[in-house]
Amino acid sequence: MLTQAARLARIEPPDQPLPVFRRLRAIVDNPIKAWPRALYRDRIYRSRLLGRDIIYVMAPDLIRTVLLDDADSFEKGEVARRALGPALGDAILIADGSRWRWQRRAVAALFRQERIRDFLPDMIAAAERTRDRWQAMPPAAEIDVAHEMTQTTFDIILRTMLPGRGSIDPDLMERSVTSYLESTSWVIALAMVGAPRWTPFPGIYRRHRNRKRLHAMLESLILEARRTPGHGNDLLTHLMTATDPETGRSMDPIDVRNNLLTFITAGHETTALALTWTFYLLSLHPEIEQRVKGEIAAVTGGGPVRPEHIEALGFTNQVIQEAMRLYPPAALIVRAARRDVVLDGEQIRAGSTVYIPVYAVHRHEKLWSDPDRFDPSRFEPEAAKARDRCSYLPFGAGPRICVGQGFAQMEAAAVLATLLRSFQLELRPGYTPEPRLRVTLRPATGMPMRITGSARESRQASGN
Ligand code: HEM
Repeated sequence: MLTQAARLARIEPPDQPLPVFRRLRAIVDNPIKAWPRALYRDRIYRSRLLGRDIIYVMAPDLIRTVLLDDADSFEKGEVARRALGPALGDAILIADGSRWRWQRRAVAALFRQERIRDFLPDMIAAAERTRDRWQAMPPAAEIDVAHEMTQTTFDIILRTMLPGRGSIDPDLMERSVTSYLESTSWVIALAMVGAPRWTPFPGIYRRHRNRKRLHAMLESLILEARRTPGHGNDLLTHLMTATDPETGRSMDPIDVRNNLLTFITAGHETTALALTWTFYLLSLHPEIEQRVKGEIAAVTGGGPVRPEHIEALGFTNQVIQEAMRLYPPAALIVRAARRDVVLDGEQIRAGSTVYIPVYAVHRHEKLWSDPDRFDPSRFEPEAAKARDRCSYLPFGAGPRICVGQGFAQMEAAAVLATLLRSFQLELRPGYTPEPRLRVTLRPATGMPMRITGSARESRQASGN
């Protein structure tokens, strides 16, 4: 066990804060590399970068203050707006105040648990398409699991949120979204050092091109939907018809477009990464993988995965939760103080950036025993209940908690169960992925894995 834990991909924190130039480089390349060891040990940590205050908050009681109890004193702020605003406008993810509140109300109904269950057949069908693609590959083919999972979750988000909207080219859209996000770490770095908005950076033209292409694709979809309304209960119809119960106002086409793009971007890459890191961890822990496979076989009776099975996959869900502890797809939550506040005796001036470094909180030595070890038993119901809710934050907390949390959890379990039933994935020998924070926590050079396992046997068993 110890040897496996020692091999797990992690980022070795520097003992002392890095000098300014190395910090700036790390912010563009991989900000977690600049997080000093204190973030994994202390309650709160203050740093200054080029005259600007950045406060890192790690203690669960302080996190609760920022995200829940005193949430009104904090907003998404300039860094988030600059990084995502040009593409996502003032949509739900980055809006603040009353503009955020009514957009959240407008989409909440679509994400209620009983409604999300209706999406399960689409989720399983998409996983089965990935399974069929893998089955058609030569034996022991190597795939990039990160790419495969992105394709699968993109398929799911389009089919569940925009069913029947045939005019989208999913490949082009996926490429445009990925390419747009690529350059975002530059924008974040520039915002953090207070550089003017017009400061050029590598990839700036590609970024503009992709944003324009994405907007054009979605605008034509909205036009088409206006011409042929009545597609039913999908996100697009929901957004086009939503009205604010307080003011009676509805979304204009730009709001609709920005929210569509928000759900497409926020709603697929994160889940894809949760799955990618789960496959990685399972490949290094064969005994846990066998237990997951055993549970899937017991729950499905050896047949294909069906919607009613998903909520019975208790251990499988624990494994996904533990994977999101070690590799949280949203590894950093950012806020800006709206007014002067005091946190744990630290003066935080209005305008200061407040970071909740989720990756470090999830490996904090005061919160987790043997934090770098993969151990799904941490999420047994009793153990999870005994823990402070704000020590585990893959989906955030408080009013801005991920609206897609239930969706993502069902989706991850459905995809994992469908694929694990038929395959085993083996990490390329000697390969250690580098977790790199680029808006989300990705394996820097992908996740090369070989497909093994008895696909044909399980196909026969399922009668497919
Ligand atoms: C494993 C998958 C996912 C993870 C780890 C994740 C993580 C997060 C986190 C941490 C936040 C809060 C950010 C903050 O407080 O600043 C958030 C917000 C959000 N997420 Fe997710 N997410 C996932 C999947 C999804 C899915 C599937 C959807 C939609 C289908 C979605 C849509 C959103 C939206 C719209 C928000 C903004 C909510 C608001 O501000 O009111 N996410 N997500």
